[in-house]
Amino acid sequence: MTSVSLLGPGDEPIVLGDTAPVAPVRVPTTRRYLMCPPEHFTVEYSINPWMDPTQPIDTGLAVEQWTALKETYERLGHRVDVIEPVPGLPDMVFAANSGTVVDGRVLGARFRAEQRVPEADHFRRWFLANGYGEVVMPERTNEAEGDFTWTGKHLLAGTGFRTDPAAHAEAQEVLGVPVVSLRLVDPRYYHLDVALFVLADDLVAYYPDAFSPGSRRVLARLYPDAVVATAADAACLGLNAVSDGRHVVLPVEAVHLAEAVADRGFEPVFVDISELRKSGGGPKCCTLEIRD
Ligand code: ARG
Repeated sequence: MTSVSLLGPGDEPIVLGDTAPVAPVRVPTTRRYLMCPPEHFTVEYSINPWMDPTQPIDTGLAVEQWTALKETYERLGHRVDVIEPVPGLPDMVFAANSGTVVDGRVLGARFRAEQRVPEADHFRRWFLANGYGEVVMPERTNEAEGDFTWTGKHLLAGTGFRTDPAAHAEAQEVLGVPVVSLRLVDPRYYHLDVALFVLADDLVAYYPDAFSPGSRRVLARLYPDAVVATAADAACLGLNAVSDGRHVVLPVEAVHLAEAVADRGFEPVFVDISELRKSGGGPKCCTLEIRD
């Protein structure tokens, strides 16, 4: 907004014209997601700084919040498939960690923490039972979409806490897509998907302080127009968001980030995911995108 400034005290500014840049019209595309209900969700071990096994967990509330997230996707026109949760695997709700699917090719997971190792095979079997002829299981530690995100052009790949950098090369080979490695440096943002998300082709939002100086320069070079999140956006796991190209599903606390994406023409859609955040997860962690 431009206004003349030569005014006396109390004068109304005369608005000459609105020079704010007009945001492009954002067009959603229909997505397919795989989710796992948190029926057996608890926090009984600690493998990231968010997890405190002494804090009370309301599993019923987790199921309610997860159901609202699933219904949000369905209301936006997306298809949601559901995998059966397994007792004794409290983190299985974080489906994003169990597969990376690009162009119908499925790369499975290999978890770092022993407690989560068995999850990978349940997802492998789900893909086989649902029409995917081949699921390649990685040799190196690979927490799938927790650390891998497809931009439409590159597979951005996080390392530093969970996924082994050697898994980046494996992903490039199996999926046949160019991989860009990024180093995470803040233990609160232990997975790439809590530090960065893709808004639309070639547009991301991220929290710079979660990345090493070199990775920050890579991101600035690849995405000069990125939405830069604040410390407060990151601290509520606001970057653990899911965009369909228009709608951005994100935690209700991420108010600044919501405004920032709205300024770029996106439509924020809030969800309350407070119970799952006690395990270090948000909307995106619960959502594995199947890109056929
Ligand atoms: N408690 C889980 C873990 O630490 C949370 C995983 C969150 N998932 C994600 N995609 N960031 O492994």
